Amino acid sequence: MDLSGNIIWITGASSGIGRALAMECARQGATLMLTARRVEALEATRSACERSEDHRCMIHDVTAHETHAAVFNSILDTWGRLDMVILNAGIGQRGSVQETDPEVERRIMEINYFGCTEVVHTVLPHFLERNDGYFVVTSSVMGTLSTPRRATYAASKHALHGFFEGLRAELYQTRIGLTLLCAGYIRTDISFHSVRGDGEGYGAMDDQHCTAMPASTFARRAVKAISLRKPMVFIGGPERFAPLLQRLSPGLVRWLLPRMVTRD
Ligand SMILES: NC(=O)c1ccc[n+]([C@@H]2O[C@H](COP(=O)([O-])OP(=O)(O)OC[C@H]3O[C@@H](n4cnc5c(N)ncnc54)[C@H](OP(=O)(O)O)[C@@H]3O)[C@@H](O)[C@H]2O)c1
Repeated sequence: MDLSGNIIWITGASSGIGRALAMECARQGATLMLTARRVEALEATRSACERSEDHRCMIHDVTAHETHAAVFNSILDTWGRLDMVILNAGIGQRGSVQETDPEVERRIMEINYFGCTEVVHTVLPHFLERNDGYFVVTSSVMGTLSTPRRATYAASKHALHGFFEGLRAELYQTRIGLTLLCAGYIRTDISFHSVRGDGEGYGAMDDQHCTAMPASTFARRAVKAISLRKPMVFIGGPERFAPLLQRLSPGLVRWLLPRMVTRD
């Protein structure tokens, strides 16, 4: 699949993986609707993209479900169609189950899970009508396993896998495609933006993320996988093999994980 000329909506495009995906998609010739809550950071993404004047930014909170249609209608008004949506907005977690307020758990699910599925409900009729369109979801290695102090985050990514594999099966007779991007550790501000059990921001960078794969490398590999219409891809460092190890030896992984993941 050639991204050139595609109209793509990217959520969470104001930083990290979303920004890197925007730059890579623009490099491949796509035209972008970039959304997130921080307008200045969104504009910085747009400026960093090739053909910056072709792309548009719009303030959008993925938990404000009533606003999805406004973004979608703006895309249709501007370009007449939508070819792909990259569901990337998300928030990390730093807190054990014991110390995490249930309201915080709901907030994580609202952003990471419903913030994707409700956008699907907005754009799916358009894709079905055209019998064309593509969903990309930024999931995680944590969509297939879980580690201490990330239980709700892992649950939100597992839930995405359940939803999107079901959707994929429903769409098997159409030309609508779907790629799940399962990221390992990627060098972004995700830990800084993560939420603690009491709902406050974590506000610090983890060692793993400081030294992890650059977001630009992730984006290059992700866009290649999308171009090849791969159903699911694991991108990152050695941690990307953990789901495979878990399948081969679940008991070993259950024993190893709590012993290896000791830091926040
Ligand atoms: N970095 C990693 O190691 C890693 C690993 C696995 C998966 N991921 C996934 O990658 C995705 C991007 O994360 P990142 O690493 O790039 O972290 P990041 O730099 O913190 O970016 C998160 C993005 O999500 C947006 N966002 C957060 N809450 C939002 C809301 N309520 N409405 C709209 N946008 C919202 C943020 O924009 P605003 O704050 O401007 O709204 C920002 O653009 C997430 O889904 C994350 O789970 C990351």
